[in-house]
Amino acid sequence: MDVSRLEKRLAEAGQSHLLQFLEQLCPEEQADLANELESMDFKEINCFFKNAMDTSGQSKKEKVDARMEPVPREILGSVTRDREFLKDWEEEGLRCVSQNKVAVLLLAGGQGTRLGVPYPKGMYDVGLPSHKTLFQIQAERILKLEQLAEQRHMSTCCIPWYIMTSGRTMDSTKEFFSKHKYFGLKEENVIFFQQGMLPAMDYNGKIILEGKGKVAMAPDGNGGLYRSLGANKIVEDMERRGIACIHVYCVDNILVKVADPVFIGFCVHKRADCGAKVVEKTNPTEAVGVVCKVDGRYQVVEYSEITLATAEKRSSDGRLMFNAGNVANHFFSLPFLKDIVNTHEPQLQHHVAQKKIPYVDTRGQLIKPDKPNGIKMEKFVFDIFQFAKMFVVYEVLREDEFSPLKNADSQDGKDNPTTARHALMSLHHRWILNAGGHFIDENGTRVPAIPRHGPAGTLTPDGSQNLKDGTDLPIKCEISPLVSYGGEGLEKLVNGKEFHPALVIDVNGIHEHVKNGL
Ligand code: UTP
Repeated sequence: MDVSRLEKRLAEAGQSHLLQFLEQLCPEEQADLANELESMDFKEINCFFKNAMDTSGQSKKEKVDARMEPVPREILGSVTRDREFLKDWEEEGLRCVSQNKVAVLLLAGGQGTRLGVPYPKGMYDVGLPSHKTLFQIQAERILKLEQLAEQRHMSTCCIPWYIMTSGRTMDSTKEFFSKHKYFGLKEENVIFFQQGMLPAMDYNGKIILEGKGKVAMAPDGNGGLYRSLGANKIVEDMERRGIACIHVYCVDNILVKVADPVFIGFCVHKRADCGAKVVEKTNPTEAVGVVCKVDGRYQVVEYSEITLATAEKRSSDGRLMFNAGNVANHFFSLPFLKDIVNTHEPQLQHHVAQKKIPYVDTRGQLIKPDKPNGIKMEKFVFDIFQFAKMFVVYEVLREDEFSPLKNADSQDGKDNPTTARHALMSLHHRWILNAGGHFIDENGTRVPAIPRHGPAGTLTPDGSQNLKDGTDLPIKCEISPLVSYGGEGLEKLVNGKEFHPALVIDVNGIHEHVKNGL
């Protein structure tokens, strides 16, 4: 094998160390490594590294407080403060769906390192009575929304589902969908595409080897979306299908209202080209990015970029002034998305994520560092707000719409399978109560609407064990998305009726499992 050309390119880029173990590899491994390196644009990678490190150093030094303004009321819609308009917005959104103008775009290319399972996060079962995975829940919400739009407008319609995966998640994601027959969706309306990968680098800009013949590669962040939309000609596919609006969301939010017609209707009504759904940030020190204006342009400002004094500032209504918590749930018009892909994508900067990256040392030993030893470079999906001509923000209730699955289960943990499962069941419990249904315990006594439980170890009304003193566990209750998308249509099933938990309502009817036998 002649690697002299490759050696030259690597030397020019200061990355010669990548071939240091070449002689110790078998011919097949040598060819794999050479092929991988051949496909990399080192000039571009070095340039990404330099820009990302410069920007990160800059943002560490400089807080943006003085340049920030909160989201003005005129571009803000709110499920709680604009109740009188919600029906109209929903009507508009359903009309767009019925006219085949709405697509959904799922960001599912992450590595899910914190959750720590060896398969894509969308395939995770958080332990609901039905044991549905995140992918299945989302697929069924799409199916239900298509039905709702069809019923309202008497025309058949479809919501294409574009799913971004990465090199690491593509094959298993596709297999999973195929095995489950696309959860009832038409195969041609589920479109997979792959995002780019970038090598991990040490702090001196040297690409890291995770094996003697293997570069440490990672997906280029959820903002890698825009480059990969271009590379895979996805915008063209959307144009062919007549799509006008796109709803973008993350795979890990169990409560996500996929293609939410109210959000879409609000954005269309406002003639927005770009919109962000947000939840209210109530605790000043919560590490969530907030949507706001900086130097007159919209962006997400991370908690680390502002001082505590700014994070604690309150408006006259008592709410935090910078309270628009970003949940990576966006609306884009197709012309806007096209403009980003064709024009603005190269202007987006990579962010620096410091990580513990396993590497081989100069003797070829694999080292697993216990503190960060390098960086991964990631673009963020929300970095394009700055290019919007008409940007809007839509505020929803966290308990109704946002419960991300980030971590593995642990006592007192946050954003884990238990919190996701509880969030969904407690939402469905509220739907039952709102539709006039009630829950009773094994003695026939009504369970209080807000369940209170005794000390650790005792049994709760649903038969589960209290994990800690005073923990509020939700009633076990699950409603299939095929029965209700957002709580609608339940009166005829539950009004005036009493149910024992666990309660499951699906397309086959109402099931009660009194002895927690699910
Ligand atoms: P996170 O930033 O929470 O990352 O992704 P993650 O991969 O799920 O988990 P960790 O950080 O490794 O533990 C938020 C959303 O963005 C997607 C994820 O799939 C998730 O839906 N994402 C993230 C991508 O699509 N591509 C990426 O490169 C990174």
